[in-house]
Amino acid sequence: MTKPISGFSKLSKSEKIDWLVTTYFAHPESSRALIEQYWNSDEKLQQLHDEFIENTITNFYLPLGVAPNFLINGKTYTIPMAIEESSVVAAASKSAKFWYDRGGFKTEVISTQKIGQVHFTSDGDPEDLALFIDYVIKEKLYEDTKHITKNMEKRGGGIVDIEFRDKTDVLEHYYQLHVTFETLDAMGANFINSCLEQFAETLKREAQKSLSCQLEIIMSILSNYVPNCIVRAEVSCPINDLNDHPDIAPEVFAEKFVQAVKIAEVEPFRAVTHNKGIMNGIDAVVLATGNDFRAVEAGVHAYAAKNGQYTSLTHAEIEGDTFKFWMEIPLALGTVGGLTNLHPLVKLTLEMLGKPSAQELMQIVAVAGLAQNFAAIRSLTTTGIQEGHMKMHLMNILNQLEATSDEKTTLIEHFKTHTVTHSDVVSEIEKLRQ
Ligand code: MEV
Repeated sequence: MTKPISGFSKLSKSEKIDWLVTTYFAHPESSRALIEQYWNSDEKLQQLHDEFIENTITNFYLPLGVAPNFLINGKTYTIPMAIEESSVVAAASKSAKFWYDRGGFKTEVISTQKIGQVHFTSDGDPEDLALFIDYVIKEKLYEDTKHITKNMEKRGGGIVDIEFRDKTDVLEHYYQLHVTFETLDAMGANFINSCLEQFAETLKREAQKSLSCQLEIIMSILSNYVPNCIVRAEVSCPINDLNDHPDIAPEVFAEKFVQAVKIAEVEPFRAVTHNKGIMNGIDAVVLATGNDFRAVEAGVHAYAAKNGQYTSLTHAEIEGDTFKFWMEIPLALGTVGGLTNLHPLVKLTLEMLGKPSAQELMQIVAVAGLAQNFAAIRSLTTTGIQEGHMKMHLMNILNQLEATSDEKTTLIEHFKTHTVTHSDVVSEIEKLRQ
């Protein structure tokens, strides 16, 4: 068993790698070489990346791809996507082109508010606590956070509301300050958490001065559940325009598509996979634009279960002779602060998108999710998912088999007219190598 190491974070990068390769690897020198191979030759750039987190040993690449031809509210975007799954960017591009020719995507930001909470316990009387918070200290809560909120307020954001919540019906002695924020172009995590920690301090201090009961701060933290930070994206077209598949009549396609979405609305096993496909698009853009995809994932899935059963995030219907497909999702994103000012590739992707506001980015990200879901349902209800997926995966299989570029050219040509399976690729390459 490996002995624990103390003071690891204080070692130099080189010492950390030494320890790692001699402790865990059969061939320490080649493992070290691999780690170093992924260092950037520009030392300053490498240092910037090293300092994002603790104990960095190297960089972990993901491809950054782009999906062009996204028409959103009449404006054309090329959307950046950071993702490893072979077929995602291709599917997004295909979907973008399909809808470009049919009026594009329409989007709207419905709300932009975020929540943070100070969780505390008290053995006091709930009514006394409510009066104390609403009438005695509310102004002090605002005053004490002025140094944090003043710049945000100048730009039109800040604290929207501070609400006292009695939660003793679900947990003994449990209360909250439930606070609503507007953080404009910032994702706002630091702003919200700083305000909350100041609220907690003020609450504790004022309670000690004026209340005879005990009051204990448990924790102060923003919520990644943002059901009041919602964006809507939709597409629609005459059913007859759903005509790009040679073997399926547009009205049959429309009906199968709507049925597939309805299945995801009522069947959680399907809904999870359906929504995973949406997140393929969303996460890729969220990551490429330097936003926190874990926060987005947590918030989106909670929203998908808001009525007590996990369900589809997208909806579809046929209204007369029109096909409609849409989604409303919560997205807390930023285009200033955090990694957006630091990561050179994030600066690049944001410039590519025309330096969007947070609201504009919410719309772009939602469209990437809707487009991805459209592409997935279209494949699932027509050819099946494997055809396109395996075509895109072919290069990965060829790379695993260490195919030469001649072998790649021959086999890519061959599989244009044959179904790709792992075993068929192996047997075709074996034939070539005989
Ligand atoms: C694969 O990453 C995503 C899909 O499974 C989504 C779906 O089934 O809708 C294709």
